[in-house]
Amino acid sequence: MTAIDMVRAAQREELSQTPHIDFDAVAVMYDSRGRTTEAVREVSGQVPRGAFVSIVGPSGCGKTTLLDLVAGLRAPSRGTVRIDGEAVSGPRKDTAIVFQEDSTLHWRSVLDNVAFGLEVRQVPRSERTARARHVIEALGLTGFEKHKPSELSGGMRQRVAIGRAFALDPRLLLMDEPFGALDQLTRRSVGDVLLDLWWSEEPDERKTVLFVTHDTTEAVFLSDEVWVLSARPCELLTRVPVPLSRPRTKPMMTSPELQQVVRQVEDALDLPRPEDR
Ligand SMILES: Nc1ncnc2c1ncn2[C@@H]1O[C@H](COP(=O)(O)OP(=O)(O)O)[C@@H](O)[C@H]1O
Ligand SMILES: [Mg+2]
Repeated sequence: MTAIDMVRAAQREELSQTPHIDFDAVAVMYDSRGRTTEAVREVSGQVPRGAFVSIVGPSGCGKTTLLDLVAGLRAPSRGTVRIDGEAVSGPRKDTAIVFQEDSTLHWRSVLDNVAFGLEVRQVPRSERTARARHVIEALGLTGFEKHKPSELSGGMRQRVAIGRAFALDPRLLLMDEPFGALDQLTRRSVGDVLLDLWWSEEPDERKTVLFVTHDTTEAVFLSDEVWVLSARPCELLTRVPVPLSRPRTKPMMTSPELQQVVRQVEDALDLPRPEDR
């Protein structure tokens, strides 16, 4: 081993012990029209590299706000969010976001939608097309490359939005109720597609995912851990680990093991705040 190899190995070792995302006593206040809204009271918690973590909590409690902090779209009023040990100070190239709203570009084909982020990053056309085609195949959208979003179902459009994020090959994927506009059956099948795309035996090859949802079964089925938030101003009430093996399969969705974890999450949603216990 050369000296440089040794330094690199030490850096890798250090990084592997640093959590990917670290919420360190984060609080957020919004000031608008002379009124101050306390959105996040205090959240602390760490997400390991390659983990799939869901965030559930009542509507308006601050879930999107937390993702905005990680995305670097907003700064906390107190505390720090760190990625790889560094305070987030703005949007980062290694982070991709999928929103609830249909965010496909309606004038572009499926292929050009999936390749859009790569185009913005000025990846050469041949490479962009190859990467986009690979993702399109994994999403089961082969044959639809030239279709416009208006010619697709809602579930297919959301797969295109997921594809755009995966094509960028980010280390970190932030998903804000990405299946919120889909019916139950469709959201389950898009969830399966997402897990297939995300899963790798090798933890280093898995993207870290922060996934906001209010579907507790979906949260448990997809995740390694579910973070349960209180009503606004939000606090982390509890973190529920999901002891189901991977890869997840459809029969697990209705298994007693999964149902038991779902109940734990739903009970936690009714918990009083830490200071009231
Ligand atoms: N830009 C903003 N200005 C003022 N208040 C905001 C702003 N964004 C969000 N809020 C308020 O902060 C709280 C949390 O919002 P949000 O993070 O969007 O909740 P969630 O995603 O959990 O539904 C809500 O009460 C919301 O009204
Ligand atoms: Mg939201």
